[in-house]
Amino acid sequence: VQPREVQGSSKQAQLEPQRRDSTGQYLTTNQGLRVSDTDNSLKAGARGPTLLEDFHLREKMMHFDHERIPERVVHARGSGAHGYFQVYEPLTELTRAKVFQDPSVRTPVFVRFSTVVGFRGSADTVRDVRGFAVKFYTEEGNWDLVGNNMPVFFIQDAIKFPDLVHAVKPEQPDQMPQASAAHDTFWDFISLMPESAHVIMWVLSDRAIPRSYRMMEGFGVHTFRFINEAGKARFVKFHWRPVLGTASLVWDEAQKIAGKDPDFNRRDLWEAIEQGNFPEFELGVQIVEEEDEQRFDFDLLDATKLIPEELVPVRIVGKLTLNRNPDNFFAETEQVAFHPGHVVPGIDFTNDPLLQGRLFSYLDTQLIRLGGPNFAQLPINRPVVPVHNNQREGYGQQEIHRGRASYFPNSLGGGFPAPAPEAEGGYVHHMERVEGHKIRQRSPSFGDHFSQATMFWQSLTPTEQEHLVDAARFELGKCKVMAVRERMVHEFFSRINHDLAVRVAEGIGVEPPAADLSQPVQQLAPEV
Ligand code: HEM
Repeated sequence: VQPREVQGSSKQAQLEPQRRDSTGQYLTTNQGLRVSDTDNSLKAGARGPTLLEDFHLREKMMHFDHERIPERVVHARGSGAHGYFQVYEPLTELTRAKVFQDPSVRTPVFVRFSTVVGFRGSADTVRDVRGFAVKFYTEEGNWDLVGNNMPVFFIQDAIKFPDLVHAVKPEQPDQMPQASAAHDTFWDFISLMPESAHVIMWVLSDRAIPRSYRMMEGFGVHTFRFINEAGKARFVKFHWRPVLGTASLVWDEAQKIAGKDPDFNRRDLWEAIEQGNFPEFELGVQIVEEEDEQRFDFDLLDATKLIPEELVPVRIVGKLTLNRNPDNFFAETEQVAFHPGHVVPGIDFTNDPLLQGRLFSYLDTQLIRLGGPNFAQLPINRPVVPVHNNQREGYGQQEIHRGRASYFPNSLGGGFPAPAPEAEGGYVHHMERVEGHKIRQRSPSFGDHFSQATMFWQSLTPTEQEHLVDAARFELGKCKVMAVRERMVHEFFSRINHDLAVRVAEGIGVEPPAADLSQPVQQLAPEV
């Protein structure tokens, strides 16, 4: 079967009219007036003062003065690529989402990989989480899977995110260090946040220094919902598996490369695509029936936990191929606006309190980052299907809306769209039953912070364990406050694994713990 793009409407074809090539053209002002001299400002006499009348100078300078936009508050440094996604077989029994129905359809995607902590100009090969954000331009609108290269997160509740980011971003007053977690504020915060134990093990492992964006796993992290045509809901976790396999640098390499080629991962991605070695990732799903929600000794709504694959295997369902570099970094990689709230019928949220807060944060931040409420109209963000709504005006408005009416309901006619019934693709939220008292409290089911951290440690080979210990010694060795080092050893690592705590302690001048505070990890029974 010949693959086809969604609705025959290609994202690339949509972008084409926006592309500009000025080769061989005359220079003009923004008003289209040809410019005869762009080297000399208009002066009263060859050595005289510059004249206010010089509209070309003023326009050129005005635009230059405003060329920069704020970088993302996190994930500022990124690299993007276009491509497509194809499902291997229809997933009709699981979800009604059209992107998962027809193996002959290629859904266009734009992907942005990123580091989290560093500024836009920081080095690639630092120890950090990596972002793995995918925008699917589906025939039902855009679906964004805004994931990371680690399956778990630092915190359980979105309200802690500003604290986490304040702790990890470069410190006041000196803005050092710029791109790594090796500082007092970060380890101070972590040592007081036992819920971060699991992800910290991932961050200290080789997973935090990927060899290449092409050799990196991705995870949706949260538990989402799939809904099928009959309205049946199931829980789903998303996984990306690189076809090349997962590979990391070692720390010594990472440090040297950061000096010699700070664009190492960016260059690798770009060159691979230029050479036709298209990066590929398979999409996997872990499915949990709604009635099995309570079957686990952790909470599916807790983003610091993964679902062990011994309990729920990953089913591979499709493939992502990246086959085109952006034409313009700013217009595409920088202006792209991902948002976990961009969903399509057949995909829904859960009450994961981290996810729920994210659903607010992304639009809010993009409002200022991308200069007003019309950033969905930027070429890279536009869906491949038409947009009709009653939103009007605002900075950067590109549309010329016709008709008198921009409200609903409306009896005068002219110009206004009306909501679609579900059968016509109207999005209907999953009818989940909720009840409870209005409280600020964590569920007790979110209470175990160390078992999966221990499980992670035990899953490593001796060499990988050694790398992790070295990383902990390196990072904590940069921490000037002894009390923080001690808390990390005695309150944190010693609850994960005694041997780990002793080995880290020995490298950072801390008294090794006497007592073994770690809990035995439950034996995982395979799913029957
Ligand atoms: C980017 C907030 C957790 C993945 C961002 C941005 C914000 C943000 C404000 C910048 C967006 C922009 O300027 O366009 C939050 C909050 C979180 C959270 C409040 C928790 C409450 C997570 C988690 C993941 C994640 C758990 C992974 C599953 C990403 C990625 C980007 C990003 C990949 C970069 C997107 C891009 O490439 O443009 N986040 N985030 N974030 N976040 Fe989160």
